[in-house]
Amino acid sequence: PDIVTLIRRKRDGEELSGAEIDWVIRAFTHDVISDAQMAALAMAVWFRGMSRAETARWTAAMIDSGRRLDFSGIGLRTVDKHSTGGVGDKITLPLAPLVAACGAAVPQLSGRGLGYTGGTLDKLEAIPGWRADLDTAEVARILSDPAVGAVVCAASADLAPADRKLYALRDVTGSVESIPLIASSIMSKKIAEGTGALVLDVKVGSGAFVTELGEARELARTMVELGTDEGLPTTALITRMDTPLGRTAGNALEVRESIEVLAGGGPDDVVELTLALAREMLAAVGIDDDPADRLRDGSAMDRWRAMIAAQGGDPDAPLPVATHTETLYAEEDGVVAELDALAVGKAAWRLGAGRERQGQPVQAGAGVELHAVRGERVRAGQPLLTVHTDTPGRIPDALAGLRAGIRISDTAPEPRPLVVERIA
Ligand code: URA
Repeated sequence: PDIVTLIRRKRDGEELSGAEIDWVIRAFTHDVISDAQMAALAMAVWFRGMSRAETARWTAAMIDSGRRLDFSGIGLRTVDKHSTGGVGDKITLPLAPLVAACGAAVPQLSGRGLGYTGGTLDKLEAIPGWRADLDTAEVARILSDPAVGAVVCAASADLAPADRKLYALRDVTGSVESIPLIASSIMSKKIAEGTGALVLDVKVGSGAFVTELGEARELARTMVELGTDEGLPTTALITRMDTPLGRTAGNALEVRESIEVLAGGGPDDVVELTLALAREMLAAVGIDDDPADRLRDGSAMDRWRAMIAAQGGDPDAPLPVATHTETLYAEEDGVVAELDALAVGKAAWRLGAGRERQGQPVQAGAGVELHAVRGERVRAGQPLLTVHTDTPGRIPDALAGLRAGIRISDTAPEPRPLVVERIA
């Protein structure tokens, strides 16, 4: 095949054959076609979309660009969760040890955050000593350890390398927000990771990739079909991301809140979503246990401590705190009618919790702590939120953005369900 012809054909709305897709992904992985050509093809896909057959083949070709892991020998059923990303989305932290406490093994190979939505690895790296880089033998050993059973670590470079390269290219050429490209990107990594079942948390709202419910449904359906067609049982929950999850956005701040959930407390929405996803994961592997009991009896907390220690972390070490904080106070009495997820995500990122370019370090202590959330009543002079950072010069901009994202009103907002829909 000739790449220029393939770009033109996709540009003009034609469907590519399976053999053509295999060739494109292989040629891109091995630098036979240039980044400019692949970026043009990705943009053509952005405009024209891909059929179900094309998306499935694109996904399979990205899986075949690297290694496919297999944990079927560890003696436990494996199940993972993937979230499309949201502000304050720390759910993996309590969820992985909780599901392990119920008897499944959770192999979660993750990425780092880029942009406003924080990465799970960045959050865990706030814990002194914890390391994200494990080899496959270590992952298998920790997964099969009856006292641990959960691993959250960095995906190695040989897992779907075509996606790694393509995602970096899409990120700098404006073609991230395409349903077939997002779905194939996520599912190629999750299928290559070797999990036995998968539950997706597809976020919808101002703080998510997709803001419309129709789009979220299509993304969820596309990923569920891709998983099912590849022999990976996959279900999805569509959940709201208009306002942050919980009361913290930022790395160490989110670890602290996750530990509160594991201790049987924590914000209601974080507990609700953790339990909903845990139930979905346990159903996927046929385990009949109530995860709420494992939060109550302390066994999820025991797994958390073992999971952190297995990766070099000290679960008893004090978490890092930022050098500077500043608090924003309510100017009037009322109810928090809006607390925009994107505004909070951007502020946390500005304060140093996220990165602008790949490879930059993040601040462990930076972020936003919410003292009042959507639907709560406040009085004039009461603290609304506190920003945390090691770079105080960024505080004025962060506070300006946050002020614009909060609306205090006389009337309470309509309650919005967190879990909108289940797609199977
Ligand atoms: N996350 C991914 O892994 N890939 C995408 O394309 C978008 C989000």
